[in-house]
Amino acid sequence: MAKVTVRTIQKYKESNEKFSVLTAYDYSTAKYLDEAGIDIILIGDSLAMVALGYETTNSVGVDEMSIFTRAVAKGVKNAMVITDMPFLSYHTDIPTAVKNCGNMIKLGANGVKIEGYSDYILDVIKRLVDSGIPVMGHLGFTPQFLNTLGGYRIQGKTQEAAEEILKQAKQLEKAGVFSIVLEMVPQDSAKYITENLKVPTISCGAGKYCNAQVLVSDDIFGKFSDFKPKFARKYADMKNLILDCAKQFNEDVKSGKFPSDEEIF
Ligand code: KIV
Repeated sequence: MAKVTVRTIQKYKESNEKFSVLTAYDYSTAKYLDEAGIDIILIGDSLAMVALGYETTNSVGVDEMSIFTRAVAKGVKNAMVITDMPFLSYHTDIPTAVKNCGNMIKLGANGVKIEGYSDYILDVIKRLVDSGIPVMGHLGFTPQFLNTLGGYRIQGKTQEAAEEILKQAKQLEKAGVFSIVLEMVPQDSAKYITENLKVPTISCGAGKYCNAQVLVSDDIFGKFSDFKPKFARKYADMKNLILDCAKQFNEDVKSGKFPSDEEIF
C-alpha cells in the first residue's frame, strides 16, 4: 500500500470512494491501525479524556499532544498522520499557530486538524497551507467550543442551520483545507453539505453520506468505558479482556503459578 496523502484523499472524493479515520495515541496501536489499512490516523485531542483522564478536551496542551504525535508517527508507514491541535494552540495569533502546527509536522505528523470557523480561523488556515501544512477542518459540534455552544448539542438541525454550516465549509474549502470533519450533525444535513463540497467530509456522528467515517479507537475497542457516544460502534470488549488478563496474572502471582520454569533465567 502506498502512503496516503492529500492527493489520495482528494481522489477518494472524486471517485466517490469511502475512506476510514481512527484515532490513536500510542506507538503500537498506531502500528496496528496502519497495518489494518486505516487511511488517516488522528492523534485526537480526545486523548485528554481517553488517555489522560481529564474532564474535557480543553485541558490538554501542545506539549502533551507533541509526545503522542511523536509516538504515533513512529508506528505509521502508510496512513496519513494528523494531529488535532489543542485548545488555544492556534487562537492567539498566526505566528504562534504556525509555530505550534509546524512543530507537529517536525515530529512526524502529515497535517493538522483545527476546529471552528471565523475570519481569523480562515487566515490561520491560509497561512498554514501556504507554509506547507495540510489542514483538516472541523465543523458542526466543535468540542473546544463546548462552553460557548452550551454543552454537547447536535448542530445543523434545521435547513437554515445546515446552510450556515455549508457556508462555513465552503469558506474553509476556499482557504485550503483538504477535508472537513462534521461532528454531531443530522444525517440529512451532512448529506446536503457533503454533496455541495469539493473536499471530502468526515463523519463523526453525522451519518452515512459523508465521504469518510471517524471514530475514537478506544470506543471501537470497547476499552474506554466512562461514556459511549450514540454513534460509536463497539467492535470488541477490551475493557473485560484487560480485566481478565490482570485478574489471572494477579491470581497466578499470588498462588505461585507465575513464573514457571520456562519463564526464568
Ligand atoms: O479528538 C478527536 O478524537 C476528534 C475526532 C473524533 C474527530 O476530534
